[in-house]
Amino acid sequence: MLKHDIIIVGGGLAGLRAALAVSGADVAVISRVHPLRSHSVAAQGGINVALGKTDRWEDHAFDTIKGGDYLADQDAVALLCKDAPERVIEMERWGTLFSRTDEGMIAQRPFGGAGYPRTAYAEDRTGHALLHTMYEQALKNGIRFYEEWLVTRLVVKTPYLNTGTNNGRCSGVVGYNIADGKIEGFLAKAVIFATGGYGRIYKRSTNSIINTGFGCAVAYRSGAALEDMEFVQFHPTTLYGTNILITEGARGEGGFLTNKNGERFMACYSPHLLDLAPRDIVARAIQTEINERRGFDGGYVNLDLTYLGAQKIKERLPGIRQIAMDFANIDPIKEPIPIQLAQHYSMGGIASNKDCETSIAGFFVCGECSCISVHGANRLGGNSLLETIVFGKIAGENAEKYADNTEFEKIDIMEKEVHGESQRISALLGKNEGEAFFEIRDELKEVMDEKVGIFRDEENLKAALDNISELKIRYGNVCVRNKGKIFNQELVNALELEGMLDIAETICLGALARKESRGSHYRLDYPERDDKNWLKHTLVTFAPDGARIDYKPVKITMYKPQPREY
Ligand code: FUM
Repeated sequence: MLKHDIIIVGGGLAGLRAALAVSGADVAVISRVHPLRSHSVAAQGGINVALGKTDRWEDHAFDTIKGGDYLADQDAVALLCKDAPERVIEMERWGTLFSRTDEGMIAQRPFGGAGYPRTAYAEDRTGHALLHTMYEQALKNGIRFYEEWLVTRLVVKTPYLNTGTNNGRCSGVVGYNIADGKIEGFLAKAVIFATGGYGRIYKRSTNSIINTGFGCAVAYRSGAALEDMEFVQFHPTTLYGTNILITEGARGEGGFLTNKNGERFMACYSPHLLDLAPRDIVARAIQTEINERRGFDGGYVNLDLTYLGAQKIKERLPGIRQIAMDFANIDPIKEPIPIQLAQHYSMGGIASNKDCETSIAGFFVCGECSCISVHGANRLGGNSLLETIVFGKIAGENAEKYADNTEFEKIDIMEKEVHGESQRISALLGKNEGEAFFEIRDELKEVMDEKVGIFRDEENLKAALDNISELKIRYGNVCVRNKGKIFNQELVNALELEGMLDIAETICLGALARKESRGSHYRLDYPERDDKNWLKHTLVTFAPDGARIDYKPVKITMYKPQPREY
């Protein structure tokens, strides 16, 4: 059995920033992959921060709240935007090589839904630059890492006493060592999940294949509520066919979208912001063009960067150029890039307040797996990197404060959980007949793409729920053919699949119940936003006899909801 004051699950930006915030306690990071392979590394276009001479954190907050269609908790948004300059400068001082203006200042580019060029960037590889800096700091500070472990269980004493505020006490996690198949208990006074999003329950996604939402699923099964799961972001510009992200920074630098008639169609959907409207609006516009046969055969439109000129593209968008050349045989200096939308980000996640606390004592969350609700119904590009470093720090500090006043739980609770997990995994490995996990997983992805996509309605959402129920039954018959202990990815994938099914179900339940359109959640049968009935957060809680839905109010502290026009 292993023991640390604070266990952080997730080695991306949020998890590492949390680890760095712990000053006195014994902290360890458990990561599903080597930390430098975490999905944070894939972030391209930049990080939002009010650094400009005439920019203000209040304006950043306003753009974020309006961008999120007034569903964000505004106290948390204020914290995010106020703390941004200090956190970004801290990264710069730690060594992040941001792109520069001619005057030597951190360069900032326009991004969707922002009233100011507020997105600081390192070419188009901002996540890469930030993650490497953060990892260097973690190494310098001697953070203990457990790499390539899958955390399968959050250990909670007295779960399911759910009153909404008191849902037991967390005392560690159970982990499966992917390298050798060993199952270990990690006793801890406090646990932080920074496990990332759940994009890979969709087939078309910009997400790394590790983004199965397993952290959210593990927390859900242990009694934590999931919040606003129906809000799934689709990025407007992903490379046609492969869905590799083509950064919003490309439009920030002046690129624009055209349909097969050569029309700059965004003028019809967002007369003021055009191609730099928020993502939900641009994504729906693209899909509308395709659905109404103004897209190209096969279902795509063009992103035209040719007017930017070779120098600008090479200087500011070198990664995009490389991706287009390597994966589509297109040089964007000379030709437009064919693009389509794909799942990109999860606004929903483990319910949390602005102190990163959940309803389970000693269990904290930050980053994409959390729903602190700074993004509301639609995240603005550039705010997710910011969220990781602002709330990573808060999660680390608050977990340490909590751990300082807490004792380790008795060892027998952990022994029981490790035994339970060992039996569960042995049972899965013990089956010699049944269905392969990928058959169920691939069907799930089809269902999500086809029925729970950018346009939704009751008929499709109900059908998706029925499909997921059937897939859950079939999951009971999954057979893992690889019985080995060393890097058994088939077993890891099979374990994760159970969580993917849970997560998909919570998305559908929230989406079916929410009879309005807000941000990324667009119901063809309820096309208007309905503040009277739906200005509230969805909470879904696991119970052995079926998921339960509750609601909680949105914190409106700065800006009253207004019509969202761009
Ligand atoms: O388009 C992008 O570069 C993505 C940024 C983001 O999701 O924040």
